Amino acid sequence: MEKINILYIEGDGIGPYIMQAAMKVWNSAIDYVFNGKKKIIWKEIYAGKKALEKFGELLPQETLDLLKEYKIGIKGPLETPVGSGYRSLNVALRQKLDLYACIRPVKYIKGIEAPVKNPENVDIIIFRENTEDVYAGIEWEEDSKESNILIDFLNKNLGVNLNKASIGIKPISEYKTKRLMRKTIKYAIENNRKKITIVHKGNIMKYTEGNFRKWCYEVAKELKDKNIEVDDIIADNMFQQLLLNPKNFDILITPNLNGDYLSDAAAAQIGGIGIVPGANIGDEIALFEPTHGTAPGIKNPEMANPTSLILSGVMMFEYMGFKEVAYLIRNSIEKTILEGYATIDIAKNKGLSAKEYAEKIIENF
Ligand code: NAI
Repeated sequence: MEKINILYIEGDGIGPYIMQAAMKVWNSAIDYVFNGKKKIIWKEIYAGKKALEKFGELLPQETLDLLKEYKIGIKGPLETPVGSGYRSLNVALRQKLDLYACIRPVKYIKGIEAPVKNPENVDIIIFRENTEDVYAGIEWEEDSKESNILIDFLNKNLGVNLNKASIGIKPISEYKTKRLMRKTIKYAIENNRKKITIVHKGNIMKYTEGNFRKWCYEVAKELKDKNIEVDDIIADNMFQQLLLNPKNFDILITPNLNGDYLSDAAAAQIGGIGIVPGANIGDEIALFEPTHGTAPGIKNPEMANPTSLILSGVMMFEYMGFKEVAYLIRNSIEKTILEGYATIDIAKNKGLSAKEYAEKIIENF
């Protein structure tokens, strides 16, 4: 029997509940496809609340070292406090491991109650830059020593006229934009996609988002495959077009913040973020995770939807070359939902718990 080593982070909030359900599905699918000849050996690594309890820190070095060694992992959502407290562990993982491409496929699953008339017209892949932009975490509070120094410098040396304010810095570089565009093009070719749309706010932020657009086009010129069209759209219009003409879009490439907003908006169009998966991929390491967060609003975490996490696992199996496993799980999820079995956020009737829903998916293999 061949052993497949995979690292996992359980996550905070609903994380442990959806992880348990998802693991049942992943393990059973590997068993089903390989007839017991392969088995996943899950190795838990720690981040968030569980890491704090166990090691006294939120993101232990060991977690980063193991991800660098194993090169593949899957994680549940991690909590980030608003306004004060520690900075996002998700952002820290992406930056420290240089997981520069956040890939989120948004495709309708038949049977889900979606809020728009034709959700089946949505079939897009979002490529979001994952390490730069206002997410770089370079910001200072109003009237702090640092923001006052910076404002003073800007006023004296760069001809601006700023009063006291909180300050955030938005770096967007040629190198990091171009490597993302190259990855996006490679994906388009390998997955037979026909169009890449650059989403930006370059009319207002000319040298950050405007150059994001320019650098993407520069890479597009290197594109040999003339069947792939590249165009661009201003971000605010993108939100409108996504609702009005979703069929016009195939792959979207975006800076960090636009991509974050857009992936939730696109997910809502097909039924919500409980079903849309994600991957954070660099040149060497890949960390898969659901689009959603810890869902503190869900009173009974056993009823949370594990689909986004299960499908993130499907992306992971595809990445590892286990196409049959990915195909089996995806089909079975579709069949299960079409039969009317799902969690309450997307179910037409009574919602199942994450565990019951996972069992139905396995029954449907
Ligand atoms: P959220 O994604 O946790 O929840 C937003 C809405 O979607 C809520 O109504 C929630 O009930 C629903 N929802 C989310 N996941 C669901 C699921 N699996 N099944 C059914 N419904 C689901 O976003 P929110 O409330 O803004 O953030 C909560 C916490 O999660 C924050 O600390 C935030 O920083 C963190 N977060 C972490 C992410 C990550 O780990 N990658 C991503 C987004 C947020």
